[in-house]
Amino acid sequence: MSIRYNEKDQTITLLTRSAAYQMQIVPPGYLLHLYYGRRTEEDLSYLYLDHDCGFSPNPWERQDQRGWSLDTLPQEYAGSLGGDFRTPCLELSTDRGIRGADLRYAGHTVTAGKYALSGLPAAWAREGEAETLTVTLADAASGLQAELLYAVFEERDLICRALRLKNTGDQSIRLEKAASVCLDLPFGDWDWIHFSGRHTMERRPERRRLLEGLQGVGSLRGASGHQANPFVILCDREAGEEQGDCYGMMLLYSGSFLAQLEKDQMGAVRLTAGIQPELFSWRLEPGESFETPEALLCFSPEGLGGLSRRYHRFLRQNVCRGYWAERPRPVVLNSWEACYFDVDEERVLALARQAGDLGADVLVLDDGWFGDRRDDHRALGDWTPNPERFPHGLGWLARKVRELGSGFGLWLEPEMVSPDSALYRAHPDWALTVPGRPPTLGRNQLVLDLGREEVQNWIYDTVAGILRSADISYIKWDMNRELTDVYSRVLPPDRQGECVHRYYRGLYSLMERLCRDFPRVLFEGCAGGGGRFDAGILAYFPQIWTSDNTDPVARLGIQEGTGYGYPLSAMAAHVSASPNHQTGRSTPLGTRAMAAMTGAFGYELDPGKLTETERQEIRRQIARWRELESLLRTGELYRLSRPEDPFAAWQLVSTDGGESLLTVCMRAVESNPRPLWLRLRGLRPEGRYRIEWQERAGCLEELSELPEREYAGSALLYAGLTLPPLRGDYPAMQLLLQRTDDNE
Ligand code: DGJ
Repeated sequence: MSIRYNEKDQTITLLTRSAAYQMQIVPPGYLLHLYYGRRTEEDLSYLYLDHDCGFSPNPWERQDQRGWSLDTLPQEYAGSLGGDFRTPCLELSTDRGIRGADLRYAGHTVTAGKYALSGLPAAWAREGEAETLTVTLADAASGLQAELLYAVFEERDLICRALRLKNTGDQSIRLEKAASVCLDLPFGDWDWIHFSGRHTMERRPERRRLLEGLQGVGSLRGASGHQANPFVILCDREAGEEQGDCYGMMLLYSGSFLAQLEKDQMGAVRLTAGIQPELFSWRLEPGESFETPEALLCFSPEGLGGLSRRYHRFLRQNVCRGYWAERPRPVVLNSWEACYFDVDEERVLALARQAGDLGADVLVLDDGWFGDRRDDHRALGDWTPNPERFPHGLGWLARKVRELGSGFGLWLEPEMVSPDSALYRAHPDWALTVPGRPPTLGRNQLVLDLGREEVQNWIYDTVAGILRSADISYIKWDMNRELTDVYSRVLPPDRQGECVHRYYRGLYSLMERLCRDFPRVLFEGCAGGGGRFDAGILAYFPQIWTSDNTDPVARLGIQEGTGYGYPLSAMAAHVSASPNHQTGRSTPLGTRAMAAMTGAFGYELDPGKLTETERQEIRRQIARWRELESLLRTGELYRLSRPEDPFAAWQLVSTDGGESLLTVCMRAVESNPRPLWLRLRGLRPEGRYRIEWQERAGCLEELSELPEREYAGSALLYAGLTLPPLRGDYPAMQLLLQRTDDNE
C-alpha cells in the first residue's frame, strides 16, 4: 500500500521506493503538508511546534493559540485566505464579490489505479502500478470544492498531481489562478534549477541559490517556449550529479505556464506551478468543473542524475503511449536543410534514392510541398500538394519513395494559417485576432483558434485526409510562432481569458484523435525546433525535434540541458551539413553522428553533395546506430561532465548493466591537453567489462587504442578510465563496454 491513512494522528502518507510524502488534517479542517523527502514511515507532525510567530494572524477557531498561523505552517494547497500571505495556489472571485477560498478538509478516498483527467495529457498506469488519493477540500463561502488528486507510482518514485475544481454553490466563480501543484518544504538551504534559452539555443540549465522572497520562471508565449521549460528542480546546495536530495516538478502542459518558488520569513519554501495566471481566467458556473494540467513530482536521494533517470523512465513508460512508445524509431533523411523550400518531385526522388542507398528508413518531405508555398510568406492552411512541383500527388510520391527503399514522411504545420492563403480568405475569423486591432504576425503567419470545435474538425479532416491519401509513416507536426492576439471570435467577453487554455485543450483533443485513428504513424512534435519540448506533447507524440540548431557542438549543450528531464528517446537529433547552416562551424562527420546519437536519429543534408567516402561513412553510422538503438532509447543516462567543462561526456548503461556506451565530444580543444580521466558510472562493481569497440572522429593524430583487456566494474567505477587527450577539429570518441562475466 503506497497510501496510508493513520486515523489516530490524522496523517496521510504517500510512500514511494525512496520517498515519503506526508500531510495532516488538523482542526478546524486545515490540510497541512508535513514532509516530502527520504523515506520514513514515522508520523512527522512533531516537526511543527506552536511558537510565537510575531505578527502572523491566527484563525478564529484557534483564537487562543497565538502561535498557530497559516502564515508560518506548511500547507498542502494554499487557497489564498486565512492569513497565509505567501504565493497562493488559487485566486478567484465570485459574482457576489467573494475572493479567494478558505479551503477546509471534507473527506478523502483511496482507490486502486490512477485518476483520469478529461481532455488533458496525463500519465497512465499499468495494473497494480499506481494508487490514487483524492482529498476533498471545500470553501463554504464561494461554493468551491477542490479535489486534490495524487497518483502514487511507488516503484517509480513519482507522484502525479492535479486539481479538480467544482462549483457546488449558486454563484458564478471566476478562476484567475489554479496551480496544479503546491509543495511547502519547511527547512533547508536550497538551490533551484530551471532551463532557459532562446530559439536555437534551448534549455541551458541555470542553477541558482534560492533566496528569500519570490522567484520563478514561466512563459507568456502561449507555448511552453524556447525561453523556459515547465520543469524545475529544487535541490540541496551540495547536490551533485550522483549525490544529494533533489525534487523535480514537471508539468504535462504545452501552453503558458508559471512555476514560482518563495522562501518565506521562516526560511520555508513554497513551490507552486501550473497554468500561467497572467491573461488567464476561467468562468465556472454552478455545477461546472475545471481540471488543471497534471504535474509530475519526483524525489531523488541520488542527485540530479538520479532525478533525470527517474523522469526518463517515467516519461518513456508512463507518459508516452501507443505503438511507437517502446519501439525502435526509424532513421530519417529530412529534406529541410538539404533543400529548404526548393522542393519538387525530382529533388525528393533524388533524396529518396539516397535514403534508400544509405539505409535510412524514412524520407521526410519538410516544408514547401503544398499550395503556393515558395517561402514562409504564404500558403499555410492550403494543404494540397503544389500541382506544378508535385503533379502526381502525394500517393504517387509515397509509392515511388517506397520503391526506392524507404518510407515516406511529411511535414505539416496544422495549427497555423498564412494571411495569403485560400484558408484565410475563406475563414478569416478562424485566426486569433483582436477586433479593431491589426494582428501581430510571427514568421508571417497567424494562429488558428484551436479552441473552436469547427477548426479542430477541419484540421482533423485535413490531416486524416492527407494520411489516407498516401502511404505516410511519419508526420513532423510543426508550430512556428507564439500566440499573440489571444481573442476568440466565438467566446463571450468574460470568457476571453480562457482562450489559450481552450487552444491547448483543442490541440490535445486533435492529437488524441489522430493518434488513436492512425496509431502506426509516428508523429514528431516540433515548434521552431524545441519551442514546445514538454511532457504534454510527449503524452501524444513520443519524440520532438530538439532544436533548429543542428550544429553538433551547440547541440551538446542543448541535449544535455534537455536530458535533465527528458529521455533520449524523446530527442530527435540529425546529422547536418558542414559548415553548419546555423553557426557556420565546420565539424567532422563522425563527431556530428556521435553527437546526434539519441533514440531518434537521422540526417538532414543532401547526401548527393557528399563524396562516396562520406556516404560510406554514413552507411556505417546508420549500421552502428541500429546496433546501439535499444541502448540509446532505453539506457540509463549518466552525465560525466559539467556544462562548463571543455568536453561533454555521457554514458548510457543498459538496465541490466550488461553494456554501456561512452561518448566524449570536445567543445573546445587545448594545446598540451590533459588526459581525460573519467570515473564511469552505472556499471556493476562485481562485473567485468571489455571494450567491445572504440572509435574516434576528427582527431589530430593517430591515437593509440585503449588496451584490449578486461576491466573490473569496480575499477572503472572507482579508479576510472583514462582516455587519451583529444586534439583536432572538434574531435570525439565513443566506446562500447560489454560485460563479459555471467551477469545472472
Ligand atoms: C521549423 C522547424 O523546426 C524546421 O526543422 C523546419 O521544419 C522549418 N520549421 C520548416 O519551415
